[in-house]
Amino acid sequence: MPRVFVSAPLPGDAVDRLRAVADVTVGTRVGDAEFERGAAAWDAVVALLTDRIDAALLDACPRLRVVANVAVGVDNVDLAACRAKSVVVSNTPDVLTEATADLTFGLMLAAARRIVEGDRLVRSGAFTGWSPTLLLGARVHGATLGIVGLGRIGRAVARRARGFGMHVLYAQRTRLDDTLARALGVAHVELDALFARSDIVTLHCPLTPETRGVVSAARLATMKPGSVLVNTARGACVDEAALANALLHGPLAAAALDVFADEPRVHPALLALDNVVLAPHIGSAERATREAMARIAAVNVLAVLAGTPPPNGV
Ligand code: DGY
Repeated sequence: MPRVFVSAPLPGDAVDRLRAVADVTVGTRVGDAEFERGAAAWDAVVALLTDRIDAALLDACPRLRVVANVAVGVDNVDLAACRAKSVVVSNTPDVLTEATADLTFGLMLAAARRIVEGDRLVRSGAFTGWSPTLLLGARVHGATLGIVGLGRIGRAVARRARGFGMHVLYAQRTRLDDTLARALGVAHVELDALFARSDIVTLHCPLTPETRGVVSAARLATMKPGSVLVNTARGACVDEAALANALLHGPLAAAALDVFADEPRVHPALLALDNVVLAPHIGSAERATREAMARIAAVNVLAVLAGTPPPNGV
């Protein structure tokens, strides 16, 4: 029987599906004692985005044929090293698109309309009644929304933005064809123009050498006074110290972050601010979505073990 290491207990029936054909070990993370003990024997690894899959790990697992990441992002995997060892890598696209777009909108509204600050105020007992100047926030409906990365999730956010009457700009290397852009109601601009022209900027790009630090001090400085930043992509796309500075001294009014550069650590300068909403990387955290992600990872492993290409090879 092939041997499969699963990095953590998964929701749904993914592990049962694997157990039907393989000897499965469910661990606590890639690299834990159980993983190390069986390293020479693993044919497949079901990995989380918190697991680092690099050349050293591949060297320790000579039988490994597939790494199935339970995430759409694969920035935790050294793809070149996997390719060099003929280890197939798969991800979980599509199933988390709408869930992540929903959370993006939730965070956008929470930050712009100061919902979390309001919750804290009420719970603290400091709410003394309606006031014309209490917690005045930024406008979402009709605002200009800048989407960095118009892939599946970016487009799902663009579709939601239409319902809010927003003007949607997007920046990415490859431009959409005109028919699709018109259907989505989005206009392409260069990245710098997007930061300068948007009231709200939201990130939906993968983390690559090109997007690391894309939200830099220089770009933040060009944003409109009172603007908002939302990040449900990857924390390292943002210079967090520069963001904290832009939230403290302007031009930003607020930010909402679901991801951090060094998770689970959060930059202390961000923790000290009231005008940033902090979420614990829950973009896809709907039960049905997470069950589907785990199932897809299992299906990809099963395909490779059966000698066929995985449906979601990267
Ligand atoms: C992903 O899939 O890459 C998200 O960050 C977690 O759902």
